[in-house]
Amino acid sequence: PITRHYNFHIRLKNVSRLCHTKTIITVNGKFPGPRLIARQGDRVLVKVVNHVPNNITIHWHGVRQVGSGWSDGAAYITQCPIGRGQTYLYNLTLVGQTGTLFWHAHISWLRATLYGPLIILPPHNQSYPFPTPFEQLPIIFGEWWNSDPEAVIAEALRTGAGPNVSDAYTINGLPGPLSNCSKTRQTFRLKVKPGKSYLLRLINAAVNEDLFFSIANHTMKVVEADANYVKPFKSKTIVIGAGQTMNVILKTKSHCPNATFFMLASPYFTGVGTFDNSTLAAILEYHNPSSFPSPKMFKSVLPPTHATLFVSDFNRRLRSLNSESYPVKVPQTVDKSFFFAISLGSKPCPRNQTCRGPNRRSKFAAAINNISFVLPSEAILQKHYFEQQRSKSNGVYSTDFPAFPPQPFNYTGNPPNNTRVENGTKVVVIPYNTSVELVLQDTSTLGSESHPLHLHGFHFFLVGQGFGNFNPKTDPDKYNFVDPAKRNTVSVPSGGWVAIRFMADNPGVWLMHCHLDVHLDWGMSMAWIVQDGNLPHQKLPPPPSDLPDC
Ligand code: C2O
Ligand code: CU
Repeated sequence: PITRHYNFHIRLKNVSRLCHTKTIITVNGKFPGPRLIARQGDRVLVKVVNHVPNNITIHWHGVRQVGSGWSDGAAYITQCPIGRGQTYLYNLTLVGQTGTLFWHAHISWLRATLYGPLIILPPHNQSYPFPTPFEQLPIIFGEWWNSDPEAVIAEALRTGAGPNVSDAYTINGLPGPLSNCSKTRQTFRLKVKPGKSYLLRLINAAVNEDLFFSIANHTMKVVEADANYVKPFKSKTIVIGAGQTMNVILKTKSHCPNATFFMLASPYFTGVGTFDNSTLAAILEYHNPSSFPSPKMFKSVLPPTHATLFVSDFNRRLRSLNSESYPVKVPQTVDKSFFFAISLGSKPCPRNQTCRGPNRRSKFAAAINNISFVLPSEAILQKHYFEQQRSKSNGVYSTDFPAFPPQPFNYTGNPPNNTRVENGTKVVVIPYNTSVELVLQDTSTLGSESHPLHLHGFHFFLVGQGFGNFNPKTDPDKYNFVDPAKRNTVSVPSGGWVAIRFMADNPGVWLMHCHLDVHLDWGMSMAWIVQDGNLPHQKLPPPPSDLPDC
């Protein structure tokens, strides 16, 4: 293992997309941002220097951050933001993980332009559990607004309305030939040779959407999800939730004329309200110089927008590889059980204000167990470290996040009987090495909707999933402890539930939230505090000296 150094200069840059030129926030003037590559076990030092007026943090999405809780980058959770002119050194070691992850800004909606791939190669003495690909490359999905994304969410939060939807989806920053600006052809072209295997590292960095992805006349083989190997399986369409990553193998046809094939992506959306329903296109191009003047173009078909059964079938096919070299160790016993009801609803409009939420008297709000999370004005981790909690509340956060929703609660009733949402900055405190089981249940306060729930600091096992109300008497009998998928972001099905297990072996403060940013900002979030263990390596180290203040 070696130490790798990266410099991230946060700078403004003029970029043209969809026939518009605008100034965006970038890392080193690149959009999408630079590719970070390391080997498993390497230490990565990223010096972030902020040259823009906006506050910044960078999150290393899916990195376990064992012993490096100060480098997680969640604004007001593990650190105060990096202000203009300030520098912060992120210091992470990539232990026990191989595959594709990504990095992104973790404040306001800056993820719209600040994101890039984070690729962890296997250690030197290890190969892939599949034939070494001829070539590998990241395919990173994003969402583009012609306006300023921070202004879009600020306006939405002020009025309580749903935010303006994006103007296009992008692949590697490019909106493609189907976008509403035909003058410039900003299209990602994947040039391939016949008869080879390509490893596509798919990353969904879109701000507010789960996506379907397919390549005309080709089938992909899924081999890894969220930087964990899975039992390989083939699919024509890939489902990739916001915040999820997936490695797929694309075998190119052995004899192919000079043809081109559409690569398409479109949203998976089950909620009510508006969303960007455009289709994104890129092009797969067989490179064959002896050719026809105008190559034939093949189109693919994608599932309909609300194809929930398709999504759940796809997700059920994801199983850990669980081979001799990559064994799976699911926690067999449970120290603490939690049940989180995930809801999207409303809260009252403040007096003397007109709101534009579900109606004129309300604002949209989201909650977990009826608590709508409010970001504190100081970082929770700092407060936790310096003032080892004595009382229930310390002015920054309180430790009374409910382990269960208010009872009784009929989750899929429409509307359920207990929907009063309360604002709070509440956390759950658990001792080091607690084995946690958590059921995440979608509720239909405003109609049900699928939510990609992301947990910082851990990978968890997805031991069960189903539709309707979770049944604590019968559903646990069907759990999979043999080869459940190991993930950092799970799709809680629309009108259904998932059960996950993880070992809290990582001291620090770990955010858990919906990776659709608008839901996160409406309060679909909470945090876990994992206390120190007794041994020195089980303790959170002291904060680095350059940790910013609020
Ligand atoms: Cu990729 Cu808290 O997020
Ligand atoms: Cu959500």
